[in-house]
Amino acid sequence: MVEFRIFRFDPEKNKEPEFKPYQFEPFKGMTILEGLYHILENMDSSLAFRSSCREAVCGSCAMHINGVYRLACKTQIQILKSPITIRPLSHLPIIKDLVVDLNPFFDRFREIKPYLIPKENPPEKEYLQSVEDREKIDDWLDCILCGACYGSCPVCAQDPKYLGPHALLKALRFVDDSRDGATRERVAFVTQNSGIFRCHTIFNCREVCPKDLDPTKAIAKLKWKSVFKKF
Ligand code: FES
Repeated sequence: MVEFRIFRFDPEKNKEPEFKPYQFEPFKGMTILEGLYHILENMDSSLAFRSSCREAVCGSCAMHINGVYRLACKTQIQILKSPITIRPLSHLPIIKDLVVDLNPFFDRFREIKPYLIPKENPPEKEYLQSVEDREKIDDWLDCILCGACYGSCPVCAQDPKYLGPHALLKALRFVDDSRDGATRERVAFVTQNSGIFRCHTIFNCREVCPKDLDPTKAIAKLKWKSVFKKF
C-alpha cells in the first residue's frame, strides 16, 4: 500500500490549500503519473494535473515529489518512501491543484528569442554546419521546458523578472550555434539586470534537470563570454 499526499487548491473555491491523502495498492513499476491517473479514475475525479507524452519528452508533468522536482512519468513509486508528498512547481501562480500558470515561465523564455536569427548575408539555399560546430551545441539541445529548474531556483523565487535557468541555457544554445547571426546582441541581452549575473551558482537547476543538462554551466559560460570574448 502506498499513500500519496497531494496538494489540493482551487483558488476560486478554497481559502487555503490542503494536502489530501490517497491510499492505493500500486502495481510493480507503477509511476507517479500512473498513480495520479489511478486516483483520478478510481478515487477522485476532481484532481487536476498535467501530462501528455507519458515518456519524459513533453515536459508537462514536472512537479515537486518527496522534496525533489521530478517528472511524474519518469519516477517510479517504488523508489520513494511512502507517504509520497506531491506539490506543484513553485514560483508560478496556481490554476488548480498541481496545475500552474506557465505564462511567466514562457514569457522569460520568449525574451531570449529562442530561434535562429539569420546572418547578414544568408546562404542562397541553406546553412551548412560542420560536425565540429554541431558538437558545440550538443550539451544545450535537449531541454524539454518542463520547469523543474525554474521551480528549484531561489533567484526565480525572489525576482520574477530573472530570465531563469531554462531561458539562459537556451540563449547559450543560440550563442554557440555557428548558423546564428545575433551572437553579439544575445550576449548583450543576457548581461542585463535580470540576466546571468543574478545567478548565484547554487546548482539546484543542475541537480533537478530530468535530462541531465547543466544550466549552471551554461550560465557560467555566458558570464565568461560576456567578460572575456570580443564579438
Ligand atoms: S508526460 Fe510528458 S514528460 Fe511526463
